[in-house]
Amino acid sequence: MKKFTFGTPEQKVPSAYCDGFNYTETDCLFSESDFSFKTTQKGSVLEFSIAPDTKIFGFGLQLYSFDHYGKKVTVRCNADAPRDTGDSHAPVPFFVTNKGWGMYFDTARYAEFYCGVMKPENGMSDKSDEIKLTTEELYAVRKSADDVTFSAFIPVSRGIDVYVIEGKNITDIVSQYNMMSGGGCSVPEWALGVLYRCNGGYNDEQILEVAEYMRENGVPCDILGLEPGWHTHAYSCTYVWNKQRFPQPKKLVDRLIDMGYHINLWEHAFVHPDSPIYNALLPYSADYCVWGGLVPDFSLPEAREIFAGYHKENLTSMGIDGFKADECDGSDYTGGWTFPNHTQFPSGLDGEQYHSLFGALYAKTMMQGLDKKPTMSEIRSMGALGASYPFVLYSDLSNITAFLTGVVNSGFSGILWTPEVRDGATKKELIRRLQMVTFSVQCLINAWSCPEIPWLKFNCVDEVKQVLSIRKALVPELKKAFDRYKETGVPPVRALVMDYTDDENTYNICDEYLFCEDMLVAPFTDFESDTREIYLPEGEWEDFFTGEKYKSGRFSFTSENIPVFRRTLR
Ligand code: GAL
Repeated sequence: MKKFTFGTPEQKVPSAYCDGFNYTETDCLFSESDFSFKTTQKGSVLEFSIAPDTKIFGFGLQLYSFDHYGKKVTVRCNADAPRDTGDSHAPVPFFVTNKGWGMYFDTARYAEFYCGVMKPENGMSDKSDEIKLTTEELYAVRKSADDVTFSAFIPVSRGIDVYVIEGKNITDIVSQYNMMSGGGCSVPEWALGVLYRCNGGYNDEQILEVAEYMRENGVPCDILGLEPGWHTHAYSCTYVWNKQRFPQPKKLVDRLIDMGYHINLWEHAFVHPDSPIYNALLPYSADYCVWGGLVPDFSLPEAREIFAGYHKENLTSMGIDGFKADECDGSDYTGGWTFPNHTQFPSGLDGEQYHSLFGALYAKTMMQGLDKKPTMSEIRSMGALGASYPFVLYSDLSNITAFLTGVVNSGFSGILWTPEVRDGATKKELIRRLQMVTFSVQCLINAWSCPEIPWLKFNCVDEVKQVLSIRKALVPELKKAFDRYKETGVPPVRALVMDYTDDENTYNICDEYLFCEDMLVAPFTDFESDTREIYLPEGEWEDFFTGEKYKSGRFSFTSENIPVFRRTLR
């Protein structure tokens, strides 16, 4: 691994806010002469050559594509992106290749990565004169015979620090990146169980009803999540219990803990004028509000102390051990409700930088608020160098193919992602979604907008129990995978190409992934079908459920279960 400095980099970059940041130079085949650097009026540009058969993976939680070769990827924090632009609520300026190296750009800017562009000196690549009659064909990435240029543009900046990481395969490269940010996160075993989030408007009796239903019916459930209704005001937030819906919050919390539950509270960081911390936070907040609430500058220790101190004294101390840190992404696609990119924060950060750093800074603040209690919480945004935060990403989208692509891509970038189940239009859809979330880092049923527990209308509690009990059985193995993540940086979910970088068959596989040490999971995305194609890489495998043996290769597979295989021999 080697850091290259070009020009004069900005000071307010992700590594400056990452407590566990740990860079040690090792041998590296790249040298400064491989790059060309310039600044323009708009920012800085770094370029180098890549071979035309380079595969490029990563850039955070990308939901619509896998190999980014030939594409433009803008790492801009933006939730609910409808198309493949690079916009994501967890964009990360780090990518890996199938050529033994990856690169991390230490920037909080909305950097643009042109992953293979032609210059006049590159000559013509596609010599075909064939007339294309669809826009897909017309604009498809062209194959080039020669090397092409990788061009990175970092707006505003006059320089950039780039970390080149080399490794024997992609898992090795990603692990080094994760270790550079302080290692994978530490999570308690209970947090890997089932998390059920209740309807946002429920009162204490309705929450208790859900808690009792789960126990009486033997439905595995370890954590209950309370959504906005627990606050006196939720958009923006007060962080004060609503006494109409929750007259005796401590009594409810004690009761749920007695029943064996952990409790997770929803919130976001925009502070309502009625909140007890509003006045104290005012001098440490941005010059724009969101939903009438302050946007605290969590890069400042004072703001973190006020926000975290309040949580510690009022919520963590009463038994809460998880939070859902919502809305820290913002979205141009849902009305642009968040703070402007030109916002000024008291620390000197601007809105663009804060959007890129918000997730990590919010997670850091909440870890302080949790006062060292073990947790696996949730967050709606994360950026660079985030591996050591035990926070799982989720979204408001629901496209199952995009969710699966998110699972597969998450492993490239030091982020955790749950393809949460909210509901299903049919029983089959609900069960297929549950199967997928069971084999993911966080088994989350987010019924925040469901009038009742989503499976009641299908009368299928036995099937739900069967799926969730598989999750229960998986917990010790998943915990081991998280321990390995912490110690070595190897993420618990990996695209096939990460472990099998030499196997070209894996270069396009974004609908299967490796889970824990040696499971391969291939969820169904077509709810109507029980048959799909599977590819098993080199080694010997057996069906997770039946024990039937399989050799490496491609085949069609039919099952009502989720297809899962265990590698018995490498
Ligand atoms: C959304 C979040 C949902 C739910 C909702 C409550 O932003 O993604 O999961 O928590 O807020 O208002």
